[in-house]
Amino acid sequence: MSSLWVNLAYIVAAVMFIFGLRMLGSPATARSGNALSSGGMFIAIVVTLLSKGIVEFHWIAIAVAAGALVGALASRLVAMTSMPEMVALFNGSGGIASLLVGWAALSGAHAGIGAVTAFTAVTVFLSVMIGGVTFSGSIIAWAKLADVMPSGAVVFAAQRLINGAILGGLVVCGVFFAHAPAPDSYLFYGILGLALLLGIMAVIPIGGADMPVVISLLNSYSGLAACAAGFAINNNILIVSGSLVGAAGIVLTNIMCKAMNRSLANVLFSGFGAVKTAAKVEGEVKPIVAEDAYLILEAASSVAFVPGYGMAVAQAQHVVRELGELLEANGCEVSYAIHPVAGRMPGHMNVLLAEANVPYDQLVEAKDINPRMPNVDVAVVIGANDVVNPAARDDEASPIYGMPIINVDHARTAFVLKRSMASGFAGVDNPLFFGTNTRMLFGDAKASVSALIAEFK
Ligand code: TAP
Repeated sequence: MSSLWVNLAYIVAAVMFIFGLRMLGSPATARSGNALSSGGMFIAIVVTLLSKGIVEFHWIAIAVAAGALVGALASRLVAMTSMPEMVALFNGSGGIASLLVGWAALSGAHAGIGAVTAFTAVTVFLSVMIGGVTFSGSIIAWAKLADVMPSGAVVFAAQRLINGAILGGLVVCGVFFAHAPAPDSYLFYGILGLALLLGIMAVIPIGGADMPVVISLLNSYSGLAACAAGFAINNNILIVSGSLVGAAGIVLTNIMCKAMNRSLANVLFSGFGAVKTAAKVEGEVKPIVAEDAYLILEAASSVAFVPGYGMAVAQAQHVVRELGELLEANGCEVSYAIHPVAGRMPGHMNVLLAEANVPYDQLVEAKDINPRMPNVDVAVVIGANDVVNPAARDDEASPIYGMPIINVDHARTAFVLKRSMASGFAGVDNPLFFGTNTRMLFGDAKASVSALIAEFK
């Protein structure tokens, strides 16, 4: 295949990646966006296989079959709540793949297939370093989320100093390596070892609950590693797709940090997820039972559901949709208010509600629902806590002060469905539970919503 056709095909694939990514921005187009990007990847792989004069295809065929089997099984068998673990493993695979491509490029160049220029040496160094950090960091992230190792932050004295020294050591090795690149040298194995060590050391001080942010960052790193590997083997589509992943990952990380009102440095260095420093809130809690809650809902003309992590735990999305339909049939306007960091992974609530076939046009972002909240008759909070905590808006002393929230306390009535008075992820008490307009419907969210449905029926 001539390089003109190869590059034209790569441009088509790159355009498909970019439009696919764009389409992931809305739940209505996300599936087609995913399919479009997969199509682009298919073109990129086929064209690469045809273009490089590969003489033996049988190892590639075995790897393709194994990869397709693992991918198909994972997409069928892995539960939605375990998606962050799976993404961590995917990122780790991306990291180790780039590391190996960089290593192979170095060995190939050293064996005389190409020249080991300073440029090749730098790109190999970057793909091995970033790929190694991504691989070992992702394995630790996976282990913390899957409870293979304790999920808490592992912190000890002089930790940042040690991490800084490892990074410094890597840079020094990199400089020497650029002058004398060789695959079987102590220098190369030193870079490999330090990169793997840095990945472990960088992720152990981060609490398990902060892992989704770290995973998004590691996703970005896996893209940068692929981009460096693309330069090392001079493959345009690897450079383009790697930079797209790198940029998209960092944008997502930024969105998540902003939605939590935390800087990336705070997530990476504070061990925040493990610390609970809540001030106590006191007042009268007004519980309600399903029979009475039904009477209020039955008379409501607008209801906003506000789902959170507890809806995922209870797997209540299907009954919530059923309740929404009953309310609509009763002449009520129904919407679902989505907070960007509700749950434990980006888009968690969108995915759950899409799985339950909730119409996309009923999903409303926090910034759009908040001005409408004073006109909402009942805001029904389904297992959400931090994302509806008014302390984030009103109490400067609160650890979550500044985090944007959904103002359910501005609704005429708020029902909060949860099992106890326990705090949410941030470990902070929630004044909403003591509000004059708030009624607590205690119990598992799925059981409580089912009880409301039973009343309607
Ligand atoms: P949380 O603040 O974590 O609160 C969830 C609440 O659900 C808990 O208070 C719990 O109370 C309740 N719950 C648990 N199981 C339940 C069940 N079976 N039935 C009913 N309720 C149940 O959730 P949120 O409001 O969605 O906020 C998300 C938090 O996670 C934020 O602080 C965010 O910063 C953080 N975070 C999010 C992400 C992403 S990307 N989404 C990533 C990292 C961290 P009970 O135990 O009393 O039932």
